[in-house]
Amino acid sequence: MPEETGAGVLNFLRHNRGRFLSGEELSRRLKVSRSAVWKEMENLRVLGYEIEAKPHEGYRLIGIPDKMFGDEIACGLKTRWLGRRNLFAYQTLDSTNDAAARLGEESLEEGACVFAEFQKKGRGRLGRVWTAPRGENILFSTLLRPKLTPAEASKVTLMAAVSAVKAVRDMTGVVLGIKWPNDVVYRGKKVCGILTEMSAELDRVRYVVLGIGINVNSSSRHLPPGAVSLKEICGRRLCRLELAGQILNRLEEDYTLLKEGRFEELVHEWENFSVLSGKRVTVNLLERKVQGVVSGVDKEGALWIRADNGLQERVLSGDVQILRQSDG
Ligand code: BTN
Repeated sequence: MPEETGAGVLNFLRHNRGRFLSGEELSRRLKVSRSAVWKEMENLRVLGYEIEAKPHEGYRLIGIPDKMFGDEIACGLKTRWLGRRNLFAYQTLDSTNDAAARLGEESLEEGACVFAEFQKKGRGRLGRVWTAPRGENILFSTLLRPKLTPAEASKVTLMAAVSAVKAVRDMTGVVLGIKWPNDVVYRGKKVCGILTEMSAELDRVRYVVLGIGINVNSSSRHLPPGAVSLKEICGRRLCRLELAGQILNRLEEDYTLLKEGRFEELVHEWENFSVLSGKRVTVNLLERKVQGVVSGVDKEGALWIRADNGLQERVLSGDVQILRQSDG
């Protein structure tokens, strides 16, 4: 966008949404020529903004594109600091987590957010790949600097799952489930994945990169097996900008609880959304498998399982599969 004039024209149109603004008024208030205003309208249209032009009345904004432009994401924020100072939006990145980690290394303050329309090397947990077609879903990472020990960093993942479920519920009425530790699911299919990575010293986290991928408007046939999008769940396309704003708003609220030492409140919410409570599961740990019934999550975010051998197992990380009754 031709920076000064473009942003200026768009801001005027936004603030006067629904009202016509004459070319003359715009050129006077922005101190640019009328042809510069006209040119900017064309540029904005090319970007996907719907602008109505009427002779003798002027221009008015009637629609914004559902593209993850930084300015548009920022418009939906009610946060105080998350995404406020540093919000970067790219067309293509290798991985938003890598980009946010670079910001962490550059000592940027917490709250920086990096969005991308497409990732060439999007990744998930346990070395998996995260794929998402260009321009249909939400892919972003946030830089946080929580005062936690490395062992406590998984709290951030649990918190983010709760935030994502509440944001989707507020916007669509659909209540998704959480499958410990980081999957947000609908009827067993994955809607959202969370990848928390950190840089830490032995006893303190330097920074955490919280990466979130949400299947918003893709068709299942363009997603990996076992995944589903909100569009398919709700039967309509959703505004990604609005959802991104809601998620950041919720994340800031929930992270504030975490910082205030009120993680237990998040655990309580988490348990209400959990699809694992009381279920028979198998957990693949690094060197062994645990099979049993899930009894809950503790205040560190670890999963507790009443194992078939009668022991209570505490699991801090691993891959959980829900067993059907017949799987014994
Ligand atoms: C998982 O389910 O294993 C986690 C998936 C996390 C995907 C997101 S998309 C944005 C961010 N960038 C990445 O490379 N990964 C995360």
